Parts: sequence; C-alpha cells; structure tokens
Amino acid sequence: MFFKPLPFEHQEQITLKLKILYEIFNRQECHDKARPYSEITQACPELDQQFRALGLEVEHAFIFQTLPQAQNPELGIHSDLDSLRDPNLVLNWPLFNCDETWMNFYRVRDHAVSDLKLHPIYQKTYKLFSDADCELIDRFQLRMPYIIDVNVPHNVTAAEGYRSIMSFRFADNDAYKQLSRSLSQL
Ligand SMILES: [Fe+2]
Repeated sequence: MFFKPLPFEHQEQITLKLKILYEIFNRQECHDKARPYSEITQACPELDQQFRALGLEVEHAFIFQTLPQAQNPELGIHSDLDSLRDPNLVLNWPLFNCDETWMNFYRVRDHAVSDLKLHPIYQKTYKLFSDADCELIDRFQLRMPYIIDVNVPHNVTAAEGYRSIMSFRFADNDAYKQLSRSLSQL
C-alpha cells in the first residue's frame, strides 16, 4: 500500500494551531519552504509528544499550497526524489481545502520516459511522467493525517482554490523503518 491514515489525539485542536502557524508563515511568504521543526514544537507541543511516542524524529516541516490542476501544469504526475529512501514516507496533515481534493497514485508503463526536474518553488528534484504513460491505481482524500509514500508516482487534483497542507519529513531511524514495513504489508 502507498498510504495509510495515522490517527492523532486532539487532532482538531492541533489542526487549529497548525492553521494559525500556516497563516503566520504565509504572511512571511514562507510557503513551500522547510520550516525549522522547533517552530512547530513551541506552538504545538502536543503534536511533538505524539511524534515522540511513535519514535518518529521530525527533520523538517513544510507548508505546501497546491493549485487546482488546470493552473498547475508544472506539477503533473511525479515521484518526489528528495530522498534516496524507498519507500520515501512523509506525513501530510490537512489544513485548508483538502476534503474535496484527491491524491492519486499511478502505475507507469514499462520503458516510459520521464523528465528529471527541479521544482521552481519547492527547489526539490522530482521525476515527471507523461499522463499517457500512467494508469490510475488508487486515490484518497486527505481528510485526516496520512503517511504517504511519495516515491510512488502521484499527483494532486484540487477542485478549486489552493489546497494547503503541512508536510512532515522524518529521520531514517528504527521507528521510520518499522513504519515503512507496516505500510508495505498492507
Ligand atoms: Fe509530490
């Protein structure tokens, strides 16, 4: 499996705090850039406690805004290549306009040609595939925090307006490895 929901206690309360942080970062034009995790822990210690209880060590938190697909030709179906890990797990936490957007996963046809790109905003390398080479195999709506393998070719289709999330990246420790195994066994 490529994704699974990860329930947190006090999810609504944490979401409210993350939304406030998001608005502050956004006003500082910090969207799509890594934030020091200390900024999150100070504002939201109950989230940090739960990551610690899971044994997960957060390296970075990003806020991401995804445009509706029609306005977002740069970021079609892609694999994120910001890590050499396989799977490459992230935790995405929904903030604004996520309920009606889809995260779609694809199987890419053998010998498909892909482009390596550096995203102009995210400054991350990713592998872009052509729609014609891809077959939709699964999808979900981000209505709660999810662990996601972003190595699997995927895209996000937002109905209208920006879809905003906070995305957490973890150190490659034992808890991370265990999470990787649990996802592959689903
Ligand atoms: Fe991605």
